[in-house]
Amino acid sequence: MAVGTVLVTGGTGYIGSFTTLALLENGYDVVIVDNLYNSSKVAVDRIELISGKRPAFHEADITDEAALDAVFAAHPEIDSVIHFAALKAVGESGEIPLEYYRVNVGGSITLLRCMAKHNVTNIVFSSSATVYGDATRVPGMIPIPERCPIGPTNTYGRTKVMIENVITDQVEAQRNNSKNAGKPSDEWNGALLRYFNPCGAHPSGIMGEDPQGIPFNLLPLLGKVATGERDKLLVFGDDYASKDGTAIRDYIHVLDLASGHLAALNYLREHKPGVKAWNLGSGRGSTVFEMIKAFSKVVGRDLPYQVVERRQGDVLDLTADPTLANKELGWKTKLTLEDACDDLWRWVENNPKGYRQDPPASFIEALKANKA
Ligand SMILES: NC(=O)c1ccc[n+]([C@@H]2O[C@H](COP(=O)([O-])OP(=O)(O)OC[C@H]3O[C@@H](n4cnc5c(N)ncnc54)[C@H](O)[C@@H]3O)[C@@H](O)[C@H]2O)c1
Repeated sequence: MAVGTVLVTGGTGYIGSFTTLALLENGYDVVIVDNLYNSSKVAVDRIELISGKRPAFHEADITDEAALDAVFAAHPEIDSVIHFAALKAVGESGEIPLEYYRVNVGGSITLLRCMAKHNVTNIVFSSSATVYGDATRVPGMIPIPERCPIGPTNTYGRTKVMIENVITDQVEAQRNNSKNAGKPSDEWNGALLRYFNPCGAHPSGIMGEDPQGIPFNLLPLLGKVATGERDKLLVFGDDYASKDGTAIRDYIHVLDLASGHLAALNYLREHKPGVKAWNLGSGRGSTVFEMIKAFSKVVGRDLPYQVVERRQGDVLDLTADPTLANKELGWKTKLTLEDACDDLWRWVENNPKGYRQDPPASFIEALKANKA
């Protein structure tokens, strides 16, 4: 008997697929909804290969209320939602803002409406460290605690802040409405998980990030430079006030990030806290040059890069203070960025076409041998 059943929106995407895996490995059943805009259905097969369990999958758009409603109706066992589905390219969000507000904010409202209709009352939401914007504008906010004032510097970040507010208002309203009706008032709960820089792949080498277009994040781009698909990495600015002039980020292995979702969901179910925000990061900041060095070491040669102008909206330092999640959720990162580089390279080197190719047979054999 499952511990619970979780609807995972965006569950074939990068973080969603790893969180689905973590849920299945920890006794939950999972129903995925994804429109495959930036992912592949093959992720479901890989999840099954690793966990021995297959999540239910529905190809549907979260902005389509009738389709989403039908998924909830088909799975009355769903008791919680982990919500990843979104558009996430910072640069693009400034070019087509209405599309970002429609999908990210509109889609979240549709989801919350369906949850209310089907009496599903726990939501874990993929927020982002981008909600803080340039935390160096406020003294004493690096590493960034949750109490750091919100101040996103781009449209994507503003959609995340809006969704955080929509979830907060909805949870509080539902709690008040229940109280006024003389019913238990702690049913509705929300976790706002502000992630720092997710990276890495599954150590088996058969599951990783496989975006449909050009990746925007540093490590996947470095992977493409290492395989020769791109000739060099563009470094956006080396005149920041860091030790080597490049921007500082907090890299978190996707396996640690996935277990953070599990910890947050369990916390909501056990403690019924209402809405709470937690940073999910390692607390360790690394510059772009340090990351190039770390990944080059794993690949075994220096990877070419070129320094270009700063990118608009980029900030100097996004390093998490993860103390609250460490204490309240009993969660801490276990893997290092060196682990992430190792795992990413194993994935990229052996699966240059991502999910559009079969993984090496020896990797599947190793997985089976591990299970036997
Ligand atoms: N990767 C990061 O660096 C990062 C950092 C902070 C927050 N986040 C957030 O985490 C979440 C997951 O990010 P990811 O890196 O796994 O991205 P991803 O693109 O791999 O995953 C998002 C998934 O949502 C799906 N999707 C998009 N629009 C949809 C729609 N209208 N209906 C149904 N499905 C839809 C995509 O097909 C994809 O599978 C996003 O909300 C993102 O904003 C990501």
